[in-house]
Amino acid sequence: MKSHAPSKESRMHSDVRISPSILSADFMNMERDIEAITMGGADLIHVDVMDGHFVPNLTIGAPVVEGLSHVARIPLDVHLMVSNPLDQLPWFLKHAPYLVTVHAEALDAEAGEFSQAIDAIHAAGSKACIALRPDTDVDVLAPVIADLDMVLIMSVYPGFSGQSYIGGSDARVARVVEIARAAGASPLIEVDGGLGANEATRAVVAAGADVLVAGSAVFSNGDFATNIAAIRAAASEARTGCAR
Ligand code: DX5
Ligand code: ZN
Repeated sequence: MKSHAPSKESRMHSDVRISPSILSADFMNMERDIEAITMGGADLIHVDVMDGHFVPNLTIGAPVVEGLSHVARIPLDVHLMVSNPLDQLPWFLKHAPYLVTVHAEALDAEAGEFSQAIDAIHAAGSKACIALRPDTDVDVLAPVIADLDMVLIMSVYPGFSGQSYIGGSDARVARVVEIARAAGASPLIEVDGGLGANEATRAVVAAGADVLVAGSAVFSNGDFATNIAAIRAAASEARTGCAR
């Protein structure tokens, strides 16, 4: 199928995008926090859906995504950490999120389930992403990379915010770049976990990351706008001179 990914040119000239994870927001004041990150310069809203089975934590489901879709003024970046994404996708897709991510580990590649998930997401008009846990071989995505709008490299084990970045995740980002190049494709690359105005962010951006998820670094201390600006500054520094 035809790739929905932006052209190489548009990506090379675009800035790194920041997608704050609302898992670290105040759930009793979600609309307020979403408005604050929007005014504070966030590009996307990262929504961590966890089913208590694929990951040990249980967070939010489709009704909350529906509510978010009514109040959000910037695109929703929905990260499905669920065991049965093909069954769950329709519930989320009907709220038309901008981006939907499913996990490779929850799909049977041999049975063509990567493509089934990508096609279902595209049929609903959303952009398709496949995520990899830190211990999953990046090369599993080679057969479908040209059909993906984005690849998500997890830089922590999915399940909780506030974990430390796993060193070497930047090399996994670099491997995605290689596989994509070999296929003549240019999906965005998102990294999720342990990022902030820190060395981890610099490393993954230098390796080719385009979209940075940050939970605790945006919501924990200080004001959101300052935190987002600090992450953006670290990213821009690393992007200068990045080969991509
Ligand atoms: C982890 C989630 C992340 C998490 C990021 O499973 O996918 O999005 O909320 O949180 P930080 O930035 O605190 O590592
Ligand atoms: Zn996430």
